[in-house]
This record gives sequence, structure tokens and C-alpha cells, in this order.
Amino acid sequence: MEHLIELKDIYKIYPMGEETVHALDGVNITIDQGEFVAIVGSSGSGKSTAMNIIGCLDVPTSGTYHLGGVDVSTMEDDQQADIRNKMLGFIFQQYNLIPKLSVLENVELPLLYAGVPADQRRERAIRSLERVGLADKKKNLPSQLSGGQQQRVSIARALAGDPSVILADEPTGALDSKTGREVLGFLKKLNREGDTVVLITHDNSIAVKADRIIRLQDGKVIYDGDAHDPRAVVQPDAADEEVEAV
Ligand SMILES: Nc1ncnc2c1ncn2[C@@H]1O[C@H](COP(=O)(O)OP(=O)(O)OP(=O)(O)O)[C@@H](O)[C@H]1O
Ligand SMILES: [Mg+2]
Repeated sequence: MEHLIELKDIYKIYPMGEETVHALDGVNITIDQGEFVAIVGSSGSGKSTAMNIIGCLDVPTSGTYHLGGVDVSTMEDDQQADIRNKMLGFIFQQYNLIPKLSVLENVELPLLYAGVPADQRRERAIRSLERVGLADKKKNLPSQLSGGQQQRVSIARALAGDPSVILADEPTGALDSKTGREVLGFLKKLNREGDTVVLITHDNSIAVKADRIIRLQDGKVIYDGDAHDPRAVVQPDAADEEVEAV
């Protein structure tokens, strides 16, 4: 069966003076339609680099990336932008809402870029605001909403284009823990309704809400499996220390 996301032997190498940094060092990941996956790892482990490649915001130094069966690893910028508009919905730690536009206009914006006609834009934007329970705030400005509500608007914006994959990079990073749990609850709900969600976080308590965890360390995958397996959340060196302590 064809995977929705298939990263094969992906390297991302940055020259740093005489040295090189292997931000991704031979990564193999497959993700299927309907999965809820958390990519975790400590700072500098390669999470954002992986997200940028999966999100067609960057290309690998080597290796191949198939998204929906299409090789996107060697695409030019304009082709990548087209794939992004059609297949990917992004949620960021900073909601990136435009302060002068209403909630509804913010959600419509990616549809405008994708060339969707005005009447359809409005209809789809309202539908995705309904999915996050914020249709009644459509005329508000972002500044008139709470942080959690603003993040829900950004989720609605990600959904409006009916993406194949929702990519969320530290979506709860700017929220208090209660609001963060609510936002996560929304991502879980979307996943139950059939959306594929890839969540990036350094927070284990967030990651365990996913079904599957992929842990990166120094640009390599060091765990890939059930989110509820204890090995999913324990760093190997921390586990060694625990064993030694016993
Ligand atoms: N443009 C760049 N030039 C050089 N090195 C880079 C560049 N971008 C990232 N790196 C390096 O690649 C490695 C992985 O970075 P990345 O941003 O993917 O980490 P991360 O897991 O997202 O970390 P954080 O949790 O702090 O956001 C780091 O060592 C980083 O310094
Ligand atoms: Mg990062």
C-alpha cells in the first residue's frame, strides 16, 4: 500500500565553516492516512528540520520524499508552493494571524492564495470555524480573542484548504497547560474525524496524546512506535541512569 508520507534516507546537511551539521542524518519515516503522530526530541534534535521537509518548506540534501505518491524532494519553489496549498495545513506556536483582518478573513486567506472563488472561500472558512467552535467570533479581530481561541482560528485556517496532512509545530508552546490541553483535544477530534495529524513537540506530556511517537536525537530516529510504550517517552541515557540508580 502507498504511504501518505514516505521519507527515505533523508539527510539535511549544513556547512558550518570547516565542519558540517547533520540536522537530519539518514531518516526513514512513513506515515499513513488517518494517523496521529508526534515527532519529539530535545532542542536541536532535528524536529523543525523534519517538519520543514515534510511541509515542503525545504528540500533535503539527499534522500527522497514522497507525499501522496509524488516525489516532492527535488521540486522547485513554485511547485512546492502549489503542493503546500493543496495538501498541507500548518499550525505554528505563534499563531501568525494577521491583526488587521477579521477571524473569517484570516481563515479565508490561504484559500485566496489557492485561487478558490470568493463565495466558496466564505463557505469553506465558515465551515472550518464551525469545526473549531468559533463561528460566532468570525467578525472579531484576533486581538479580541484569548490565546487558545486564536490558536483555534489558526487550526481553522489550516483546515480550510481541506489538507491531506495537518502539520503542527509546538502548537501548545505559547499556551498555559489547560488551554494547551484544549487545543490538543481539538487536534485529537480532527484526527478522529479522519484527518492526518503530525505534531512536533519537545513536551512528552503532549506527545503521549498522539497514537504514535517518533523520537529524534542528533538527526536520527531513535524510537518509532506506540505512544504508550514506556520507551516512547524515556530518553535512552535517562533510562540507563535509572537502571544504574537501582
Ligand atoms: N540554517 C541552518 N544552518 C545551520 N545549522 C542549522 C540550520 N538550521 C538548523 N541547524 C542545525 O540543525 C540542528 C537541528 O535543528 P532543528 O531546528 O531542526 O532542531 P529542533 O529539534 O527543531 O530544536 P528546537 O526544539 O530547539 O526547536 C541543530 O543543530 C541546528 O543548529
Ligand atoms: Mg524547532
